Amino acid sequence: MYPYRRNRRLRTNESIRSLVRETIITPNDFLVPLFVVEGKNVKEEIASMPNYFRYSLDLLEKEVKELWNLGLKSVLLFVKVPDNLKDNKGTEALNPNGLMQRAIKTVKNACPDMLVMTDVALDPYSSYGHDGIIQNGLIVNDETANILAEMSLSHAKAGADFVAPSDMMDGRILTIREALEEEGYINTGIMSYSAKYASAFYGPFRDALDSAPVDMKDIPKDKKTYQMDYANRIEAIRETEMDIDEGADIVMVKPGLCYLDIVREIKNAVDVPVAVYQVSGEYAMLKAAAEKGWLDHDAVMMEQVTAIKRAGADIIASYFAKDVVKLL
Ligand code: PBG
Repeated sequence: MYPYRRNRRLRTNESIRSLVRETIITPNDFLVPLFVVEGKNVKEEIASMPNYFRYSLDLLEKEVKELWNLGLKSVLLFVKVPDNLKDNKGTEALNPNGLMQRAIKTVKNACPDMLVMTDVALDPYSSYGHDGIIQNGLIVNDETANILAEMSLSHAKAGADFVAPSDMMDGRILTIREALEEEGYINTGIMSYSAKYASAFYGPFRDALDSAPVDMKDIPKDKKTYQMDYANRIEAIRETEMDIDEGADIVMVKPGLCYLDIVREIKNAVDVPVAVYQVSGEYAMLKAAAEKGWLDHDAVMMEQVTAIKRAGADIIASYFAKDVVKLL
């Protein structure tokens, strides 16, 4: 009798495999993170992120056009802020002519239909490298949320389609949503970093923006009082449901690969799109192993992004986006 059912029949060759394949990667899956710096004609490689760059606005324009031509239609902007403009409250973040605000306009001018999302958090602007204002050695929540709301408004005014708060303060989605509604930015969306873990995988990103927490007396050494404990799962559902109740249009799990259990659980629990951020450390690990000849870069990259989508990601924020799309 056994086996009438032979599962290998569906794996016989690529034609049948592609016919029954459940998860297909397309350019529409990706959100491309971009790092922006002041200057002209600047394209600096980030030391711990091989083949990933910071661009000045003129070269950002070129890069964005290239992404568009590859079919990549959404970007997530981050800025590297000069040290002399950093302070505890991230004052520079609200400058209507700041680097982020100019970057938004640059992308929209170069490519009007490119979806522009912006990182909303204090750390690139903070003299202490934290996502919140510090008072008496503590990260203060509500004061920070108010600044994030002002920052979001400033990005919306500059033309951002979505703001993406990555800070993990409590209640900030509601504060931001209310501010946007009050000023008439009813169509500006919010992609919330809702389950963002305190992760060592963010190291290369902090190199890219020079935004690591400073080593100073009375300044918290890490982000564990606001980003989540990586040992926790149920808390991720609570964080995410609260953000949706407060007005998030898209929710996010971050990092990616070590957290695919969380991604699937959230995907099953919510009815809004779920984004996953394959973060800088994940990128750096594969680049390093591939440089040594220990892993097949393209094969592992495809396996990783497919696994992220299979786990439940509707959107993948990834430094590999361009590499993947070129390979498709
Ligand atoms: C800042 C922010 C971080 C990342 C995105 N936004 C770093 C952090 O929280 O320290 C990490 C992204 C990456 O590692 O690729 N709020």
